[in-house]
Amino acid sequence: MYRKGIILAGGKGTRLYPTTKALPKCLLPVYDKPMIYYSVSTLMLAGIREILVITTPSDRERVNTLLGDGKKWGIDIVYKVQDQPRGIADALIIAEEFINKTPCALMLGDNIFHGPELQSKLTHAYSSNNNTIFAYEVPDPERFGICELNAEDKVISIEEKPSVPKSNLCVTGLYFYDEHASEVASNIEPSARGELEITDVNKTYMKQENLYAQVLDQGYTWMDAGTVESFLEASLFVKSVEQQIRIKISCPEEIAFNNKWIDVDRVKMIAGDLSNSPYSDYLLNIIKN
Ligand code: G1P
Repeated sequence: MYRKGIILAGGKGTRLYPTTKALPKCLLPVYDKPMIYYSVSTLMLAGIREILVITTPSDRERVNTLLGDGKKWGIDIVYKVQDQPRGIADALIIAEEFINKTPCALMLGDNIFHGPELQSKLTHAYSSNNNTIFAYEVPDPERFGICELNAEDKVISIEEKPSVPKSNLCVTGLYFYDEHASEVASNIEPSARGELEITDVNKTYMKQENLYAQVLDQGYTWMDAGTVESFLEASLFVKSVEQQIRIKISCPEEIAFNNKWIDVDRVKMIAGDLSNSPYSDYLLNIIKN
């Protein structure tokens, strides 16, 4: 099984205005690293080495300056723009040529995942023939895509921002789809808010009886860092975990090194480039051990 990754970092970040008037949301720091590192790292942790990053036209250059072509992390990163915020499912249409009829994983640029068995859950989804979403219990289900599961964790209902939610299980912003994802997205209609909803893509797969959830239980944390409150909470969360366990959450260099995608010299080179920062010290420490 070979799977490609897509990161949707489009959108104007209006919920963070005025901060995001001049700065791309995905480049804002979540504690010690840019927000988009968390998405790239999550896909890398799943085993994905070929990633398409979708940005707004005005953010493209700056995101490219940060991530480049991915070679420094032993991966390939290419870019496309979304000129209007047409919804999450639009990313699958923009990515059609890139996906080129291979299975894919789509991740939102402001989502953060952390938990003990995350890598095994991700690699399981990577190699599964099923379409997989990641579900997480939330106290405010009216704000999200919400699903219901049967005993086999097959999705049996899914609704976008329901006023009477059937469960508290939120569909998080990470989706593993088969090779038909672009075609499925091309066949859905815009919703009342004028967007191509990822929930409608998920509903299509659900109707085909091929949408399963990996449930992230209490041991996991999932955050959508797109609001003023959750943006700060995400930084505080990462700070607290990293200080306790002394391991960084979502450090692409560490994941690449552990996966043997880059060697000691590459890590040293990156650390040199970032010298004078605690992040650089951390990288030098990884290769010492
Ligand atoms: C989007 C999706 C929703 C999902 C959420 C996760 O919501 O439409 O299904 O639960 O992301 O962050 P939006 O951020 O567009 O309101």
